[in-house]
Amino acid sequence: MEVIIRPTTESAVKFTARLIADQLRANPKMVLGLATGRTMEAVYAELARMHREEGLDFSQAQSFNLDEYIGLSGDNKNSYRYYMNYHLFNHVNIDKSKTNLPNGMAEDPIAEGERYEAAIKAAGGVDMQLLGIGRDGHIGFNEPLSSLNSRTRAKALTPETYEQNAPLFDKPEDMPMRAFTMGVGTIMDAKSVILLVTGAEKAQILKKAVEGPVTSMISATALQYHNKALVICDEEAGALLEGKKYYNWIFEKEPQWQKYHNI
Ligand code: GLP
Repeated sequence: MEVIIRPTTESAVKFTARLIADQLRANPKMVLGLATGRTMEAVYAELARMHREEGLDFSQAQSFNLDEYIGLSGDNKNSYRYYMNYHLFNHVNIDKSKTNLPNGMAEDPIAEGERYEAAIKAAGGVDMQLLGIGRDGHIGFNEPLSSLNSRTRAKALTPETYEQNAPLFDKPEDMPMRAFTMGVGTIMDAKSVILLVTGAEKAQILKKAVEGPVTSMISATALQYHNKALVICDEEAGALLEGKKYYNWIFEKEPQWQKYHNI
């Protein structure tokens, strides 16, 4: 795991977008793993800008999102399909038929999980998985006690997640209590992962995720076992990290990061 702490939220966001863009330029057919949530909105705005102003080309790319609410169809404003169209897909030249999310309206949840896993496999696996973190430490919707080997499935959401996400619904009581999510094992199969964390309210959970013991109570801790996991955070989210000085030192010295110092 590597940790990169940027001075501001804007710089953490731009850094993340730039890494995705560089990978996409190197491999135009890449399979992107995408995430939702407030944190990602600015990343998608930056990718859309890069498409508009720099010609960043998504035409051959494919994508798989982490999760979707159960019971919401893609035209529901609060579905993650709607979110992805609204924040990214409508603004870049990705082929929408190559963008994938679990189907929140699927009748058989077990079959839907298997279908999604098979689709990821058929695409050759996710090249780069973008992740945010929930206040309870979830990645995707892998709530506390999710098996660290779990695969895509239906998951009941915790009261904390409900509290965090319900305000995003026009009527908070409309937020579904369950969602489909890639499992922790599914996420761990991605060739690389980027966890983007911003804001002071995430400082405590980020410290636990990066420097705490691996536990299914905090699914993000599983990333400590990933061979290519990068954590990008702003100063506020990184404020409690004990190894801060060391992480900054690596970022300053490692040649691979030289070209990113000015972001
Ligand atoms: C939801 C998503 C997660 C995301 C989290 C953080 O719960 N399922 O994938 O990481 O929100 O959201 P925010 O960025 O709004 O804090």
